[in-house]
Amino acid sequence: MILVTGGAGYIGSHAVLELLLAGHDVLVLDNLCNSSRQAIERVEYLAGRPVNFVKGDVRNRPLLNALFAAYPIGAVMHFAGLKAVGESVREPLRYYETNVSGSIALCQAMAEAGVFRLVFSSSATVYGETSVMPISEQCPTGVPTNPYGQSKLMAENVLRGLANSDPRWSIGLLRYFNPIGAHESGLIGEDPNGIPNNLLPYMLQVAIGRRKELNIFGNDYATPDGTGVRDYIHVVDLVKGHLRALERLEDTTGVHVWNLGTGQGHSVLEMVRALEEVSGRTIRYSIKPRRPGDIAQCWSDPRKAWSELGWRAERDLRTMLADAWRWQLQNPRGYTVEKKVPAALAS
Ligand code: NAD
Ligand code: WQD
Repeated sequence: MILVTGGAGYIGSHAVLELLLAGHDVLVLDNLCNSSRQAIERVEYLAGRPVNFVKGDVRNRPLLNALFAAYPIGAVMHFAGLKAVGESVREPLRYYETNVSGSIALCQAMAEAGVFRLVFSSSATVYGETSVMPISEQCPTGVPTNPYGQSKLMAENVLRGLANSDPRWSIGLLRYFNPIGAHESGLIGEDPNGIPNNLLPYMLQVAIGRRKELNIFGNDYATPDGTGVRDYIHVVDLVKGHLRALERLEDTTGVHVWNLGTGQGHSVLEMVRALEEVSGRTIRYSIKPRRPGDIAQCWSDPRKAWSELGWRAERDLRTMLADAWRWQLQNPRGYTVEKKVPAALAS
């Protein structure tokens, strides 16, 4: 059985589905602070199998101990965490406590239970500002410009220290680039609270008419059209990478870092045009000053994951956007307000 912390969230719910489809039993631990129980119900529907779900906090050691005692957990995928960059600047302690102390509590409980295989959600943000593209795993980690990024780097360092201290640990640090898209069914996807911080959810809400226009943060970067360039990766490709990492960690020990990206960069304006094409809607935008802390461009060298995991991203930008758009159309207000059971679920 695989314990998936944060399994009701955007990436976690897609990972739970992929694990179920691959035949694993899954236990989800999530406090639902940024997600909905509906995501799990929909995953169960899609997989045709139940998920063991416990509402609780990853920092709760007694709860973790009880879960490891009650379920035959063989490995952990650790998604639980807070991820809003701006919020992390305002509430740094909450971010360090959840993302760093939460990871420590989890590892303590794992060690006590004799479970040493862990896949950790890290982020390309740990590379900080680097001008050498593409970014490979050999690129030194930098100085993330906000507490969120710092918390991810700190958690990585905690896990490295742990693996150095005890050869039984087998840990994968998966550095995501920019996950977007949704499951092709349109039943699970990203459901941000309030005003979205990230490009894709914001653009989708403009396309569907919930917001007037997109603010493009800067068109004077040293990029082909002046707008920021990122490596967007389909969330289903991303979670498939987690399953390969989980398998690989079964026959190796120590810490392994793998970039999960496509290796291709796309600018904000390219994203706008591509979503217009896919959705048939016009996306109004206006150019605004650069967003503090943003870098001009960032894309991965994904070759290490290919050579060591036999994994690479397969879905192109059009598919990412078509799947994201389907999710948005079918769930215009996400899970929270969308209490009605979608037609596909009712049948
Ligand atoms: P998400 O907010 O949708 O999912 C995180 C889940 O963790 C949520 O369901 C939330 O309720 C849960 N959670 C938060 N604090 C918890 C706690 N203390 N105890 C138990 N559950 C808790 O975010 P996501 O986009 O699915 O991200 C998953 C992981 O991937 C996070 O660790 C995030 O930092 C990392 N990551 C995300 C991105 C991205 O762009 N989405 C990029 C790089 C890394
Ligand atoms: C992408 C591009 C913006 C919104 C962040 C975190 C990172 C990781 C992923 C978790 C940039 C531009 C955006 C908008 C815009 N998260 N943009 N208007 O900044 O690459 O990464 O999410 O680990 O840690 O920092 O992603 O989607 O916010 O921005 O013009 O309303 O879109 O300037 O060029 P980013 P993003």
